[in-house]
Amino acid sequence: MSVLMMPFQPRFICLTLALSLFVGSLIGLNYLPADPVLLVLLIIAGGFSALGLHDYFQTHHAILRNYPIAAHIRFLLEEIRPEMRQYFFEDEKHSLPFSRDKRAVVYQRAKGVLDKRPFGTNYDVYADGFEWLNHSMKPTSAKPDDFRITIGGPDCEHPYSASVFNISAMSFGALSPNAIHALNKGAALGKFAHDTGEGGFSPYHKAGGGDIIWEIGSGYFGARNLDGTFSPEAFAKTAANPQVKMVELKLSQGAKPGHGGVLPASKVSAEIAETRGVPMGQDCVSPSSHSAFSTPVEMMKFIGEMRRLSGGKPAGFKLCIGHEWEFMAICKAMLETNIYPDFIVVDGSEGGTGAAPMEFMDHIGRPLREGLSFVHNTLVGIGVRDRIKIGASGKIASAFDITRAMALGADWCNAARGFMFAIGCIQSQSCHTDRCPTGVATQDKSRQRALVVPDKANRVANFHNNTLHALSELTAAAGLEHPSDFHREHISRRISQSEVKTFADLYPELQSGALLNGTADARYTTAWNRADAHSFRSATAAAA
Ligand SMILES: Cc1cc2nc3c(=O)[nH]c(=O)nc-3n(C[C@H](O)[C@H](O)[C@H](O)COP(=O)(O)O)c2cc1C
Ligand code: SF4
Repeated sequence: MSVLMMPFQPRFICLTLALSLFVGSLIGLNYLPADPVLLVLLIIAGGFSALGLHDYFQTHHAILRNYPIAAHIRFLLEEIRPEMRQYFFEDEKHSLPFSRDKRAVVYQRAKGVLDKRPFGTNYDVYADGFEWLNHSMKPTSAKPDDFRITIGGPDCEHPYSASVFNISAMSFGALSPNAIHALNKGAALGKFAHDTGEGGFSPYHKAGGGDIIWEIGSGYFGARNLDGTFSPEAFAKTAANPQVKMVELKLSQGAKPGHGGVLPASKVSAEIAETRGVPMGQDCVSPSSHSAFSTPVEMMKFIGEMRRLSGGKPAGFKLCIGHEWEFMAICKAMLETNIYPDFIVVDGSEGGTGAAPMEFMDHIGRPLREGLSFVHNTLVGIGVRDRIKIGASGKIASAFDITRAMALGADWCNAARGFMFAIGCIQSQSCHTDRCPTGVATQDKSRQRALVVPDKANRVANFHNNTLHALSELTAAAGLEHPSDFHREHISRRISQSEVKTFADLYPELQSGALLNGTADARYTTAWNRADAHSFRSATAAAA
């Protein structure tokens, strides 16, 4: 966008009009010095011009920087929204995709302002599906500073001490340079990890100085040859960077499993091309499947290579569960090769993305709870759960969301959109248009400037720290010392007006080794029998 055209963009038109009227009335007063109309016009236009210029240059509100003067209307509407909604519109807990209440608590925790609520819950606690945490009669005093876990199995030389709450994968390309910089700087301030997403380890990650989980997807961005195949040399070079604490292979993400991705040529800036190792002026394509391996056994060998090439850092993979036998085939491959990932990140189909086809977003992939409990159970069922850590993502933004995931088997949680809210995202859902109003998900430089890195980095760290503080209060109320003490019996769900079940009843656990000794229940054994370490296809389908 040419700088000369900026004043004529709709979002700057109020400021342009105010300035024009101010200058026009000044010129008019030169000819008609005592004209009262011109004098009033000068005062009003001068006031609006000063307000607009202040909005444009202030560093606290992204939306004001991008919509000087006009954004005040939004704040005014925000102010009267509760009253309007109370009479006419949706309720606070309406969750599409994130409820207003959930977003408000993120904003409050990110800004470090009061995050309490008055009067009582707005939820109908007798509605089917309502969930709660069972508290203890003997609360403890859990400390958020201790909420770390060690990731790295016996084959890992450099285990990583991770926070239980980290920034989920979002690429440089999907997010703006300022967004990446603010997220990573916030991670450095709050001492937690930031997943790069498949778009590579960019200069903006490096500028932040925070701990990195470096993700590679099927495009192998930052670790590829010119023809798009995996380059061990390029991978080893980047993985050696001390900021990189873990390396992650992306198989799929919940919002679009089984679908690749395209960053259109228009968005492939010189920096993105450099970071990803792709040419400028061409669409940047992530294929829907990997070229570096084609069977579960080959995939395990590839994970082993990633760990070796990174000098022994924790290596793992991320996926959204689809066919059960495919994940079980990977488990069989672990047993056959004796190569185990250090971690697995389970993403739910409720997860987010920069852009995906509607059908993929709405109807493909297993939701987090079912995926997470299945992965946990399967690893228990083959007796390797103690050497592999599980991360979870999928609409996790509050401390209760974390407890719920940990109760189902997660060792740590990641949030993507929660941290987007922390840096100013207002859920306008126009990420795919390159016209993000807050500078979070855009490559348009005139919009990116709305996001001021130091201010938003502090909010990222605050959101993390205040969420862990809330988590420590929940942990203590449940009578536990650490969030990893949460188990399935700690969470209850209303099934009907007269029936309540705990997660222990709803998501029964397998006994250790049950898949190996044949004592697992039928649903697991049927899928287990279909799994083949040498093929992602079902063994029965292959035989037919
Ligand atoms: C803008 C955006 C970009 C994303 N890019 C990636 C990516 O590059 N790699 C990946 O594994 N997941 C990606 N994701 C998925 C998230 O990492 C996460 O798994 C998912 O959004 C669920 O977390 P949430 O519900 O907290 O957003 C992206 C999500 C968003 C919103
Ligand atoms: S403000 Fe809107 S366009 Fe920007 S990141 Fe948030 S949802 Fe996407």
